[in-house]
Amino acid sequence: MKYAISYVSTASSNLGEEEIQKILDYSRNWNMDHHITGILLYSEGNFFQVLEGEKQLVEELFKRIKNDARHYDIIKIFSKDIVEERFTGYKADFISVDSRYRENDLTTYLAQIDKLNPGIQTSVKYILKNFSEGIK
Ligand SMILES: Cc1cc2nc3c(=O)[nH]c(=O)nc-3n(C[C@H](O)[C@H](O)[C@H](O)COP(=O)(O)O)c2cc1C
Repeated sequence: MKYAISYVSTASSNLGEEEIQKILDYSRNWNMDHHITGILLYSEGNFFQVLEGEKQLVEELFKRIKNDARHYDIIKIFSKDIVEERFTGYKADFISVDSRYRENDLTTYLAQIDKLNPGIQTSVKYILKNFSEGIK
């Protein structure tokens, strides 16, 4: 059974750019190795993540993520069984006003969200839009 979880969270105040990059790199490597797809975005002190894959694997991973002291106030947007993954591969990025922001990537994320179940799509889009508001 395939499963998907999405949430937003607040980065711990002492989290520097290097630490954030470490989280992005670690999650990209681990998830790719374990056939977990989705995205992890960081912007202005918040994380937004979608995780997709084998149900047990995704649930165990989310448990570890929830216990991670590098962020808090984890708000789950949805968790549900899915027929197939909607994200091709796994992307982990900063999105921000500075030069690290790459417009194409955000367009890619939004295009992928277009393929989600309409019920979920609305809330993910809403959150992602607000999430990226600072960069528009
Ligand atoms: C916002 C955020 C997102 C994370 N996403 C992932 C992820 O997608 N995959 C992953 O393996 N670890 C992710 N981590 C790291 C995990 O919380 C945890 O450190 C890692 O799974 C190693 O677990 P362990 O220290 O219990 O061995 C994330 C951490 C944070 C703060």
